[in-house]
Amino acid sequence: MDKSSVVIREMMLRDGLQNIPEFIPTEAKIKLFQLIVASGLRNIEITSFVSPKAILQFKDATQMAQAVLKMNLKGVEVSALVPNLRGAQLALESGMRKLGFFMSVSESHNISNVRRTRAESMDELKKILELKAKYPDMEPKAGMPCVFGCPFEGKIKPEVTLGFLRQFYELGIRDMSIADTVGFGNPREVKEMSRLCVTEFPDVTFSIHLHNTRGLGLANSLAAYESGIRIHDGAIGGLGGCPFAPGAKGNTSTEDLVFMFEEMGISTGVKMERLIEASRYFQSVKKDVHYESSILEVGVPVPKGAITKDGSEQKWNM
Ligand code: COA
Ligand code: ZN
Repeated sequence: MDKSSVVIREMMLRDGLQNIPEFIPTEAKIKLFQLIVASGLRNIEITSFVSPKAILQFKDATQMAQAVLKMNLKGVEVSALVPNLRGAQLALESGMRKLGFFMSVSESHNISNVRRTRAESMDELKKILELKAKYPDMEPKAGMPCVFGCPFEGKIKPEVTLGFLRQFYELGIRDMSIADTVGFGNPREVKEMSRLCVTEFPDVTFSIHLHNTRGLGLANSLAAYESGIRIHDGAIGGLGGCPFAPGAKGNTSTEDLVFMFEEMGISTGVKMERLIEASRYFQSVKKDVHYESSILEVGVPVPKGAITKDGSEQKWNM
């Protein structure tokens, strides 16, 4: 990967599904995963090892993990979300190694989300990291929701975020994600926060996780890119949202992210037609949800041909 290209991490099978209360059959999830891989996306979060009492959608987390790992796909990085030690144990037992732990920067959202204080979540992370003794190839990642604002507490100061990231760092985490869970952030803030992250922790791989709640998802992604963040989360169809964060809406749509970066000459490795096939497939599985993706709605621009003054055949229609 050259320094300017970008990795879009596909969140559809985790964030995209977690706000859909009706259980999507495992076979449909697996088919969607295969179509996502066929589009060229190489970094995919496939499920969440959460309590089925909290989110029923992921009661098949173990089956999903086993089905995907059985495919033994080279060059495709698959991860799963884990909120606690129990989730990490279940994920590791089912063969997953890339585990995404998360702890909200805001105390209120962390309690709403995982019923733990931030200090309790940090302790949980320490226990998860002890599993390295049994699973030395475990690859922990730590995500931080609500960095740009919390639905309960409002804006969060960058120093607070940096303080918790420092705690992650001291525990040995070198893969971190900052998230705008409910769409409070603007490009100026995202650019500055991203800059602070990459300069304070130069040996950490950062990713950015944005929700397009107020239409700033793409602008915020670009801002993070300009500060050097090269892994950007998206979800096909712009689906997603945290069920424990009031007002949460979908992730920035993968189609729109791919379009923006590719149009700017920044390679994503994704084939748009194949990506749209994946999105259309899911739309056929689940019709009654709101999709938020400009490219899915209107497609990529296709010129109709030049218009001449006497070319009466040409019409101004789209
Ligand atoms: N996977 C499966 N089951 C789990 C589990 C996990 N990761 N963690 C806990 N459980 C089960 C326990 O075994 C227990 O089951 P029982 O009642 O049959 O004995 C039950 O869930 C309650 O366990 P407890 O440790 O008390 O958990 P909790 O009720 O405090 O819930 C979380 C904590 C973190 C597990 C729960 O809040 C959760 O899964 N939240 C999801 C948050 C999320 O995904 N948000 C969106 C992403 S930002
Ligand atoms: Zn999210």
